[in-house]
Amino acid sequence: MNKQNIEAAKEKFGKLLEEQLARVEAMKAQGDFIDYTKLDKIIIGVCGGDGIGPAITGQAQRVLEYLLKKEVDSGKVEFRVIDGLTIERRAAEMAAIPPAVLNELKECHVILKGPTTTPRKGDEWPNVESANVAMRKELDLFANVRPVRIPEQGIDWTFFRENTEGAYAVGSKGVHVDENLGVDFTVVTTQGCERIIRAAFEFAKSNGKKRVTAVTKANIIKTTDGKFLDTFKEIGKEYPDIIADDWYIDIMTAKLVDEKRRRDFEVLVLPNLYGDILTDEAAEFQGGVGTAGSANLGKRYSMFEAIHGSAPRMVTEGRDIYADPCSVIRAGAMLLAHIGHNEEADKLYKALDICTITEKKLVITGRDTGATSAAFADYIMETIENMN
Ligand code: IPM
Ligand code: MG
Repeated sequence: MNKQNIEAAKEKFGKLLEEQLARVEAMKAQGDFIDYTKLDKIIIGVCGGDGIGPAITGQAQRVLEYLLKKEVDSGKVEFRVIDGLTIERRAAEMAAIPPAVLNELKECHVILKGPTTTPRKGDEWPNVESANVAMRKELDLFANVRPVRIPEQGIDWTFFRENTEGAYAVGSKGVHVDENLGVDFTVVTTQGCERIIRAAFEFAKSNGKKRVTAVTKANIIKTTDGKFLDTFKEIGKEYPDIIADDWYIDIMTAKLVDEKRRRDFEVLVLPNLYGDILTDEAAEFQGGVGTAGSANLGKRYSMFEAIHGSAPRMVTEGRDIYADPCSVIRAGAMLLAHIGHNEEADKLYKALDICTITEKKLVITGRDTGATSAAFADYIMETIENMN
């Protein structure tokens, strides 16, 4: 029996290795980042997702259409609403992303995405893979960029989380060797490390940052985290003006709460799972994951998303019109900057600060005691209008 189990596990493992080696070849063949200035038209896909997603994403779209009015009118920018990325349809088709939806996504250049439900053990949904994780893999969105800023505390961090490898690469393909032994895999590639680490250093260089910090557990996870760290040290040499230091994830998690030290960190680059965890911790200081936007960048496609959940209860209670659209609007500002509309992005960031911190003429409470998302989007647009 043992022998048979081991053979079956080996076969599965062999398939995984083949898939991963194919991914390496695909990465080797990849060119540089897309140049949006060379496109006749930029297509922005708007993918509402689940729960409150369509409601808040629709409001973010209104704000972006307002800021890009000239480009939309002249046909340089097109918005396309992509409907089918819902848990109901994904469950019906038993697909992380229904194939027809994936085709629509692939016709876009950048995507603004609302939250999608990730099924978990014991809930009503079948165990389809997370749409988030699938989209990152399918569109090869390898750099998850998550900024956290708290100006009054001197905090200005930008996390570059690797988004396609590590514990997530084959996270749904572990092996139950027999009823007692389960094995998961974590994956690293030279190409995967190089592209995320280089992206972090390039960002530091072009934004006047003085320090890039790698976060691993290379003392224990020697092969994969070891490769990540070795690659970091090699690439760091190409940027002599930038300090390249490294920390282990356990002490890094502690340092983020150390008020005397934490403001010294600037750009952090880290494997997928550590990035997932540390960015939630970091966002919490800023006011919670609901306040953060997140960019998922690849060479051909990019996707911008809110990092909070889909709050299905708000929909069943008829409160989705009161959902807070700020996080997805912030993701929209990141999208604008990414496609080269920096001036519009800056206006939007400024308006978000005015509307949520300094002026706060409208407050969102998530129920009818506060403003609707539509009224809030109006408020943002009026605020921008008054800047002109
Ligand atoms: C995130 C989320 C996702 C992740 C989930 C929803 C699959 O936590 O974007 O950080 O684990 O990456
Ligand atoms: Mg997370």
